[in-house]
Amino acid sequence: MSPASPTSLYGVLGLPVAGNPTQEMIEAAFDAAGLDARYVSLEVQPEALADAMRGARALGFPGLHITVPHKVEVVPLLDRLTPAAQLSGAVNCIKREGEELVGDNTDGKGFVDSLRELRDPRDAVAVVIGAGGAARAIVAELALAGTARIVVANRTLGKATEVASQISAGTGVPVESAQLTEPWTVPGDADVVVNATTVGMSDPAGRIRLDWSQVGDGAIAADVVIAPSTAFLRDAEEHGHRAVDGLGMLVEQAVIGFRWWTGIEPDRAAMRAALEHELGLG
Ligand code: ATR
Repeated sequence: MSPASPTSLYGVLGLPVAGNPTQEMIEAAFDAAGLDARYVSLEVQPEALADAMRGARALGFPGLHITVPHKVEVVPLLDRLTPAAQLSGAVNCIKREGEELVGDNTDGKGFVDSLRELRDPRDAVAVVIGAGGAARAIVAELALAGTARIVVANRTLGKATEVASQISAGTGVPVESAQLTEPWTVPGDADVVVNATTVGMSDPAGRIRLDWSQVGDGAIAADVVIAPSTAFLRDAEEHGHRAVDGLGMLVEQAVIGFRWWTGIEPDRAAMRAALEHELGLG
């Protein structure tokens, strides 16, 4: 009898990683696909990141997720970056290709794939509220997906201006910045409005006060907050708009990593069920 081939080991490096539901989603997909693979959530201190990456290389991890606070610091430890990772300056998903580690940023891709269930972002006018890491990844991916125009609105205008000028220069898509005041009037030609701030994350009733009155019916409101509904989404629905929740974005992000790593289309429904179970929703 020939010896069994070793179990493939995947994982996420972050701090903290407790409560990160990606392990449950990816392992549900491994089970559904009948793969002999495991996914581990590993807590790594910032000063240990370079050693951890050397260890992952030595151990032959075929794929890794990287989460807060390592998404920017991991960049110089990699051999190559995808265009999305170059544009956002941050990596959350790594694939080993031969001896090389390739970094991608799937934060925005997961968002765009979950948006695509309702509409193609091509030629859309998008408004992104926020200018942190999540917002930057989403603006980059919307631009790469061919949106006509993007407005980045942030409480701290300088951060919005920086994101806007970098993504515009990198893609040729017009990206403007705006000062987010409250209440803020959502531009009337918006097709897609994204809450990419942390508002609503710890306080489910938390909301940025928005005036939706100028926006025509049937726009799409999307929230990065990981919850089936938020005050932002409920307000938008009351004004006749359609909602995309943050759970779909998280599932699509895990789907993209799984597909990239294994070449197999994962069982989305099993992943969504695992996510809902982990969050106490299912
Ligand atoms: P992430 O990496 O999850 O995007 P982040 O980088 O800390 O998190 O960014 C948080 C975003 O939420 C920022 O755009 C922040 O606005 P500022 O740049 O002005 O800080 C936004 N944000 C957080 N709390 C907010 C609030 N109460 N009102 C408006 N925007 C808020």
